[in-house]
Amino acid sequence: MPGQPLDDGTAHALVAAAAAAPSIHNTQPWRFRLDTARRTFEVHASRRHPLPHTDPDGRAVHLSIGTALCNLAAAAVHLGWEPVVRLLPQPDLPGPLATVRLAGAPRAALLRRPDLYRAIWRRRSSRLPFLPDPVPGPVLAELAEAARSDGARLRHPDAAERARLLALTAEAEQRSAADPERRAESSACLAAPGAAEGLPVYALGAQDSNGRLPMRAFAGPADGVPGERVAFEPDPQLLLLTTRHDGPADRLRAGQALQHVLLLLTLHGLRASFLHQALEWPDLRDRMTGPGPERGAPHMLLRIGYGPAGFPTPRHLTTALLRQPEVLASSR
Ligand SMILES: Cc1cc2nc3c(=O)[nH]c(=O)nc-3n(C[C@H](O)[C@H](O)[C@H](O)COP(=O)(O)O)c2cc1C
Repeated sequence: MPGQPLDDGTAHALVAAAAAAPSIHNTQPWRFRLDTARRTFEVHASRRHPLPHTDPDGRAVHLSIGTALCNLAAAAVHLGWEPVVRLLPQPDLPGPLATVRLAGAPRAALLRRPDLYRAIWRRRSSRLPFLPDPVPGPVLAELAEAARSDGARLRHPDAAERARLLALTAEAEQRSAADPERRAESSACLAAPGAAEGLPVYALGAQDSNGRLPMRAFAGPADGVPGERVAFEPDPQLLLLTTRHDGPADRLRAGQALQHVLLLLTLHGLRASFLHQALEWPDLRDRMTGPGPERGAPHMLLRIGYGPAGFPTPRHLTTALLRQPEVLASSR
């Protein structure tokens, strides 16, 4: 409790919650180092760059680590702490991307949604068709407010925008499929039975038999994956997450906002899947927000709706993620 060093059990519980977050290709690019006496976690990117061709500048790594920060903060509140999150505490050094200090009893504002913690364990990507039922306006407003409170913006594109965003996503999907290095990275993310990262074949979902929704094809027949086709919802409901600027801190912030939105969706019984393909090609990413002074920097396109739950994906053990200080220090 406040004033006392953090015990082992609490530290591992917090890291487990952080690690339940989504990450690109389930690469889980986060590592944690704990200063027990100061009750402060350092959150680092793993030493090995997981996807050098798909994510050359680490944009998706930052986004993924942002989602883990959101979970860590929600779990801290659940366990009775106020999380003080600092992004890029040493901007000019290759040190942690963030620190999270557990500062004492949580402030009332942070307790507005204590049930966020519960959603951490229920949220999963669902790559299956959704029902056509519209997401209610008050829910969309709550999601937008959550993103805004994290320093991001959540747009709810109209029909013309949706068509444009899906066309950019389809073009990205085609390009990535034709790119041998990206294809290799994508099929390498297929998780072998018992693996601690990557995507099991049963979680890959399906492709749209109508050819309207460009779901990511992680692997195909060449990888021994049949590539099932089913009809998806004809008019997918989309959300586009942006921030005003596009620096490393903005990308972390976007990840925090993304996870906040995903947890709220979960609490409302809604599902989501990611359509990140166009974000991985700079020229297509640039076209996602269109012209105008309000355009901002895009970070994620989400498909949302009511439908079946996704399938569980593996995670590393917390003992593998919570590194000893000297191990990380020597990696700098
Ligand atoms: C930055 C980022 C990009 C992602 N891109 C895609 C994508 O384009 N298509 C997709 O189906 N899932 C995508 N995902 C979802 C991950 O594959 C998923 O989070 C991971 O496999 C763990 O599964 P879970 O979300 O069910 O916990 C992305 C996740 C993140 C954080």
